[in-house]
Formats: sequence, structure tokens, C-alpha cells
Amino acid sequence: MNIITKLALAAGLATALSSATLAQDVSGKVIGFSQIGSESGWRAAETAVTRQEAEARGVDLKFADAQQKQENQIKAIRGFIAQGVDAILVAPVVATGWDDVLSEAKEAEIPVVLLDRGVDAPEDLYLTSVASDQVEEGRVAGQWLVDNVGDEDCNVVELQGTVGSTPAINRKKGFEEAIAGHDNITIGQSQTGDFTRAKGKEVMEAFLKSSNNGADICAVYAHNDDMAVGAIQAIKDAGLKPGTDIKVVSIDAVPDIFQAIAAGEANATVELTPNMAGPAFDALAAYWADGTEPEKFIITESKLYTAENDPEGEYERRKDLGY
Ligand code: AHR
Repeated sequence: MNIITKLALAAGLATALSSATLAQDVSGKVIGFSQIGSESGWRAAETAVTRQEAEARGVDLKFADAQQKQENQIKAIRGFIAQGVDAILVAPVVATGWDDVLSEAKEAEIPVVLLDRGVDAPEDLYLTSVASDQVEEGRVAGQWLVDNVGDEDCNVVELQGTVGSTPAINRKKGFEEAIAGHDNITIGQSQTGDFTRAKGKEVMEAFLKSSNNGADICAVYAHNDDMAVGAIQAIKDAGLKPGTDIKVVSIDAVPDIFQAIAAGEANATVELTPNMAGPAFDALAAYWADGTEPEKFIITESKLYTAENDPEGEYERRKDLGY
């Protein structure tokens, strides 16, 4: 065995040992998780993955479903503080209104990790935030449209996420950045569908009615796949072909959108991993091990998928993951 091989083996062993130590460091910890609700397939998968990650690492996870209401999240966080949990995970439904409760957690010396959405609050009130770059997600979706529309005039309708949530704010911003300077592409109508399939369908029906039964719409940009799936149904009900008559681009990469892409009824999605808890537990483990302060923002990847990326295979790979 030469010296380089020996060094590589030693480095590998050290990494394996330190991962094992980190994994052990969260075992036995009690961690509260204030989840937003179950508005989308992606949200269901995040809940499932968080439970699995907790179980695999020996964490006692206290789960609270806020049913889309910030007041329920604040109540749940106060409950976790009163119970004296070791840490709190929170997926904040909207960006504002967190300063008081996060200050209470800080005073109680309970580290808070934000999952998948951000807050407008001082950064010292939370340990880290594990989320995607949501502006980039919007940019990736917008760039796909720019690349696929060419010089054709394109009237886009936009289905926004929950009003006041960071993904709704940032995905809109990123998409607008990507289409800026392409004067043939305009956002004709934009409304919230609250990240749900039912509202996505309802709002798309209204867009179709006010746009010459869809003849004046070139593309729909949905801030998540569930709203896109609702919109696809509305387009079909109007006698049009989604994916062909009206292009469909969205975000999340849930199994249902891969089925739609495979059927030619959706065109593109941007992946958002449901595994936010894994990096959150790793950050907590390192913090508890020796006080290591994690990066303030742990950013997950935003990958584009189209019909060229084996949508049937992607569906098969994801269909049993809790979506
Ligand atoms: O915050 C992430 C977003 O919330 C997901 O894109 C959406 O599906 C969910 O409801």
C-alpha cells in the first residue's frame, strides 16, 4: 500500500468516525417540529422524511401540524419551549411576525432551525436556515420559458404560493428576473393559489375564462407542482391540451408532475428536496458536539427536469417517498 492510499484510507476512516459521532450526538434529543400543514405533496414528503430522519438518528420528534395558521405555529413553539425541548425545527408559513417567539426560544437557550422557508427577523434569533435558493428556483423556471418560447409573443399566467411566504415572494422575483429584457414574454395575470391543487385549479379556471377560453394564454407558471396539476385539470376541462396549447412550468418535482411530464401535459419542474431535516440534524449535532456554528443559510440544490430527464424513472424513484 503506498503512502497516498494510506492517507486516503485514514481520511476516509476519520470522516466515517466523525459522521458516526455526529449521528450519535442527536440521539436521545427531544426536538419539536412545527410544520405548516399538508397543503401539497411536497409538504407531505417533507413531513415523512423528517420523521424518518428523526427515527434513524434516535431523536424523539414532537410534531405539531399548524394547519396553515401562523398563530398555531406560535402556540406550538411556545408549547415546545414550556416542555424544555432540546431544539425546535420550524417551517414558517409566512415571513413576518416571528421576532417575539424566536426571542423567547433564544432566552430559553433552545436553538431554532428554519426549514424550507425564511423569516424577516434578526439572524441571531435562529441557528441556521435549511432551504433552497427560492429566487434561483424562479430564475430556473423563467429561463426554461425564455429558452423554449423563442421570439414568439407569450402571455404568462402565474399561480403564486401563499401570500407573504418567502417562496411566493422569491419565486416571483426570480421568474421576473429571468424574463426581464425579453419583451415578448409578459405576465398577464398573477394570483395566489395558496400552494394547493384545488385553488390552483380554481384560479386557472378564472384565468381561462378571462383569456378567450385560454386562446390568449401561452404558458402557466405555478410556484409549486400541486397548483400546476390543478391548472392542468382546468386546461383539460376547457378542451385544451396542457403542455402543448398552454405550456406548464412549476417547482417541487413531485411524482404527479413527472407523470404529467411523461404524458406531455407538463413541460418542466424545478426540484426542491424534501430532505431539509437531514442537514438540520447534522448542524445541530455539530453544534452540540463542540459549539460549531453552522452556516446561517444551508442551501439545497435547484435542478431543472423536463421530458428529457426520464420522467417515468423519476416518478418510479419518488412514488413511495411519502409525497
Ligand atoms: O416552502 C416550500 C413550498 O411549500 C413548496 O414548494 C410547496 O409545495 C410547499 O407548500
